[in-house]
This record gives sequence, structure tokens and C-alpha cells, in this order.
Amino acid sequence: MKKVITYGTFDLLHYGHVNLLEKAKSLGDYLIVVLSTDEFNLKEKNKTCYFKYKERKRLLEAIRYVDLVIPETCWEQKISDIKEFKVDTFVIGDDWKGKFDYLEEYCEVVYLPRTPEISTTQIKNDFKMKLQQAR
Ligand code: CTP
Repeated sequence: MKKVITYGTFDLLHYGHVNLLEKAKSLGDYLIVVLSTDEFNLKEKNKTCYFKYKERKRLLEAIRYVDLVIPETCWEQKISDIKEFKVDTFVIGDDWKGKFDYLEEYCEVVYLPRTPEISTTQIKNDFKMKLQQAR
């Protein structure tokens, strides 16, 4: 069985995320999503999520392409995750291109093209703008 792993925050789940997960799953048989915890997001990515970890996890688990969701608590866990789960392929969007080439020592590394014109930040900004316009 070919195992694929991906990492991310996946807040306010949108079709860009679903496209990424669909493509990631198509590269193997079993997809593991390593989901950034609220603490990790705040401390390391300076992000406050709209949905808490438990809610983001539940949404991801409801997606047919996702087989397992586990927490991401630090940047350094990738090598041990790959070893522990015997991962064949590491996948992430190409906004991270080149950043994880060092993992090639442990598994295949694939950067997938992002879906254009959608992101969690974009959704949040659109809502803010609409609220301001309504005032
Ligand atoms: N992703 C994608 N296409 C998009 C948005 C995200 O392929 N339009 C991918 C990212 O490249 C990453 C995964 O989905 O591999 C999770 O991305 P995440 O950072 O959680 O989502 P974004 O919408 O990019 O969130 P933000 O705006 O907060 O960065």
C-alpha cells in the first residue's frame, strides 16, 4: 500500500483544500493529513484559526480522500512521521516549493500546483471588506 502524507492548517475548509487532498490521494492508496494544532498555528505561523483543531479535524475526516488525521505540533516532526508511518510520498502545495526538498532523503517529495484565487486568508479578507461596506 502506497502511503501519502500532507501538512497544513486547513481552516475554513474550501475547494482549494479539497483539490489538494484529491490530488494527494490520487498519488497513493492511503492519505495522512498532519493538521497544525491551534498552539502551533499561533506560535509558529502567527495564525489564529476560525475553527478549533477538533472542528478542523472533524471536517477533514469527513472528506473521502482522507484516511487519517494526526496533529502537527512542531516543524521537526516530519522525518519521524515519515519513518513511523512508512510514508512513500510527501505532498504539499507549491507555495512551499523547495522548502521540503531535504525530505527527499526519506521519501518522494511532490509540490502540487495551488488552486488559483482561493485561500483562507482571502475568505477572511472578503468577509471583513463586506462587513465594512455594510456599515
Ligand atoms: N492549497 C491549495 N490551493 C489553495 C489553497 C491551499 O492547493 N488555493 C493547499 C496549500 O498549498 C497546502 C494546503 O492546501 O498544501 C493547506 O493550505 P493552508 O495554508 O491551510 O490553506 P490556505 O487557504 O493557503 O490558508 P492561508 O490563506 O491561511 O495561508
